[in-house]
Amino acid sequence: MKYIAIMGFGVVGSGVAEVLAMNEDKIAKHVGDKVKVKYILDLRDFPGSPFESLVTHDADEVFNDPEVKVMVETIGGARIAYEYTKRALSLGKSVVTSNKELVATHGPELMELARKNNCIYLYEAAVGGGIPIIRPLHRCLAANRVVRIAGIVNGTTNYILTNMRDNGVSYEEALKQAQANGYAEANPTADVEGIDAQRKLSILSSIALDGTYVAPAEINTVGISALSLDDIEFAGKIGCKVKLLAVFNNGDEGSSCYVAPHFVRSSSVLYPVEDVFNAIVVEGNALGEAMFYGQGAGKLPTASAVVGDILEAVMPVEAGAYAHNWSVPSNEGRVTLPYEKAASKIVVRAPLAAADDVKAAFASYETEVALDDGEFALFVRGIVNGDIETKVSGIQGAKWMHMYE
Ligand code: HSE
Repeated sequence: MKYIAIMGFGVVGSGVAEVLAMNEDKIAKHVGDKVKVKYILDLRDFPGSPFESLVTHDADEVFNDPEVKVMVETIGGARIAYEYTKRALSLGKSVVTSNKELVATHGPELMELARKNNCIYLYEAAVGGGIPIIRPLHRCLAANRVVRIAGIVNGTTNYILTNMRDNGVSYEEALKQAQANGYAEANPTADVEGIDAQRKLSILSSIALDGTYVAPAEINTVGISALSLDDIEFAGKIGCKVKLLAVFNNGDEGSSCYVAPHFVRSSSVLYPVEDVFNAIVVEGNALGEAMFYGQGAGKLPTASAVVGDILEAVMPVEAGAYAHNWSVPSNEGRVTLPYEKAASKIVVRAPLAAADDVKAAFASYETEVALDDGEFALFVRGIVNGDIETKVSGIQGAKWMHMYE
């Protein structure tokens, strides 16, 4: 018997218990032994839950039990979760998590702690919910230099944008529905302001850079709260949808990362990605493009990824074999280029009277007229580097947004 403990019995934690029970026989066959939840550590009681008898409030009981070799951290946040994760890893117990905030904030330290104590720290569920992306990026694509990642990595915002556009649901109502479905963070500000996507991009970029840690703080981030219905309707007029994208570029001049709303063109593979679904396009210099698509949030999809990690952690792998090795650069400087230097394709829109000014400002770029009716809009298809704000702010009434095609 392989015993595990679940710390935090919220949406994802309870999903983990449910998936382990639902697929008990399949899992036993895969592992060659039964996997049993011995404890559920939570401050709350869960009367009526089929797992009620496993609930304990006594952390010492769980940590001191030598039979528990793997602990699931689905507490969330970076306070108690951080303390408990450090405690477990220090005791040589592997930890499996869906907590992107913790991985993005303290990843290097926790991975180092795991390595020192011959155990592993796994976080497949931290990005993309149920979509396999961490292990494929870390292992299957290891032969590549990753030149680009572009992803819809937040289910809540994609759900909100889809429902506002297609069903005329208000922003507030769409957010409420996302919360009711268990997609949103405890504090949904993290979703709508792009912080959740920023954390996920920090994780993806750190893996893409082979363990050079990209701190969330160096990722310029804009969420969806300032978007208007007009932006969403305008997108439709130019054959686009508005999507919140997390972007990592790794060119000859250096790497750059940002999170921002984009006009996504209908020709793009990201265009049909709706509702809570996430999709992450990874471009490797040998592979070319691959897209990872699936349910990016929600109880059972996220639990699916957590349980996958549990099975890896309980199996007799060479200790630490899968552990990542993130290191903070010794010069304490930033790893990626400042946002002003990030390369992007953009859409510029302005009143019709300013059409010539827009054309003149981007005359040296490859462009395509997006709209010339009521207002003027230009797809700037050549990569704009560094001076977007300066160029656009000089044009009366002009606005710009990133574009993905
Ligand atoms: N709040 C997150 C989202 C949960 O909406 O994508 C999954 O990480």
